[in-house]
Amino acid sequence: MNESIEAIQTEALAQITAARDERALEDARVAVLGKKGSLTRVSAGIKDVPQEDKAAVGQLLNAARTAITAALEAKQLALRDLADRAALAGIDVTLPARDLPCGALHPLTLIRDESIGILRRMGFALAEGPEIEDEFHCFDALNTPADHPARNEKDTFYFDSGKLLRTHTSSVQIRTMESQAPPVRIIAPGSAYRRDEIDATHLSAFNQLEGLYVDADVSLPDLKGTLEYFLHELFGTNTAVRFRPHFFPFTEPSFEIDVQLQLKGQPPRWIEVAGCGMVDPAVFDAINRSRKDHAYDPEKVTGFAFGMGLDRLAMIRWGIKDIRLLIENDVRFLRQFA
Ligand code: DAH
Repeated sequence: MNESIEAIQTEALAQITAARDERALEDARVAVLGKKGSLTRVSAGIKDVPQEDKAAVGQLLNAARTAITAALEAKQLALRDLADRAALAGIDVTLPARDLPCGALHPLTLIRDESIGILRRMGFALAEGPEIEDEFHCFDALNTPADHPARNEKDTFYFDSGKLLRTHTSSVQIRTMESQAPPVRIIAPGSAYRRDEIDATHLSAFNQLEGLYVDADVSLPDLKGTLEYFLHELFGTNTAVRFRPHFFPFTEPSFEIDVQLQLKGQPPRWIEVAGCGMVDPAVFDAINRSRKDHAYDPEKVTGFAFGMGLDRLAMIRWGIKDIRLLIENDVRFLRQFA
């Protein structure tokens, strides 16, 4: 019995050593340790061994099993290592890796963040409001009567509920004054929506940056100084800026702001970038009625407001001729800002 155990062990170790792949190794394992394997069979014979020899034979069997199992494991590791090396053969691991394409910020994000940065340094805090608005915040509280063209079904995206996609970010002025007593000095960047015919300077979904400053003594020179400073920070101090008298229901007096755009090889052109003005007392009245107090007493506070087109600012900043480039996501265009 002892000799046959030793013979099985020797034979098994030889087979394991000779195995060329994992399949041959598995065959060797089954041949010795499997249900009908040679060592399994011999182990079953231990019941016939005389009592006094059982311990010694048992020890020999265990030693053989341990040695064979260890050899199987070592061989398996060696075979896997060999397979890994074979898989890597022919691959030059010293070749430099290919660059992963790296994303960058969209020009609209760049201009928005830069604009916010300038205005925050001037003391404006960020505010926000919903893009799905009601008519009160978008129009009524902004002194915009029912027959104003901005409220027309043809110009505005209405929902069945009567709510609408806000046509401007000016609604955030109302929401801010409803929840905060003066002084307020806020900016609100965000999307606005109109049923506009899309062309080189118009999109139906576009981006604005609203501003509002209400305090005891806010005046027209404050408005002009603030916005001129802002535009010069953004475009450089040599940029020509003009304020053109205009009409908005929620400001009096009101202006549109134009910035001179200088494209290479073309005569300079004025581009409208913002509306602005002194908050109309009728707006303060609407706020007081909504707040049910007199925090915005038109006799005690004044304010200025402005709404800029961020897409337009980006066009001027980088000389972009067509606003549609900003939403087409053509990487050849976007890469220029990376
Ligand atoms: N909401 C106006 C628009 O979208 C722009 C505007 C004009 C905003 C005058 C203002 C303002 O805050 O005072 O055309």
